[in-house]
Amino acid sequence: MTMTTATTMAVLLKPMISAQRLLLFQTQKHTSIIAQQPKQHGSLLVASSVRHSDNYCQNLVDEFDPNIPIEKALTPPSSWYTDPSFFDFELHRVFYRGWQAVGYTEQIKNPRDFFTGRLGNVEFLVCRDDDGKIHAFHNVCRHHASLVASGNGQKSCFVCPYHGWTYGLDGALLKATRMNRIQNFDVNEFGLKLLNVATWGPFVLLNLDKRDFTPARR
Ligand code: FES
Repeated sequence: MTMTTATTMAVLLKPMISAQRLLLFQTQKHTSIIAQQPKQHGSLLVASSVRHSDNYCQNLVDEFDPNIPIEKALTPPSSWYTDPSFFDFELHRVFYRGWQAVGYTEQIKNPRDFFTGRLGNVEFLVCRDDDGKIHAFHNVCRHHASLVASGNGQKSCFVCPYHGWTYGLDGALLKATRMNRIQNFDVNEFGLKLLNVATWGPFVLLNLDKRDFTPARR
């Protein structure tokens, strides 16, 4: 078994760590209305309850010798398939770096098309706006962190199913219910969090690495 095959299998076989979506967003001004402050690790905001040190995981990696001739090689250590911290390590070293294919351009062929998904522990939402631009966001409502959309289809805007906050196809917050008496609340600060998105041939790609993030709204 190659290392690539093993790591891919590890991703498929290991249970997902609890979603991080509740941990994503906070500003100093509005701590009471949105989710708690995340723990920052590297370039990504993550839930870290099972996370061991990188040294611990590196030791697990080192248990496998990729230089052994294939006819003498054993399978990778079982910990690669069963240890949640190894899965976490793999997410950060592979899937939260660089561009990852998450869907097909066919899924957002027309204006207002959208699809949702999950890359590692990150819930995402991809759509095409009325001008034909593609956008991607964390699929996390800025109010109380509900999923904003699910599945796929067509929408002219995204209405959170929890309390009805409404976002445009560019992620801007258009309507915020239950906020009338909150002072200093600025809808412009609470659009959906953008993700880097690109297309390559028939694929839609996301890049979760904040080091590569382009802050300007597309
Ligand atoms: S969680 Fe309240 S509107 Fe989305």
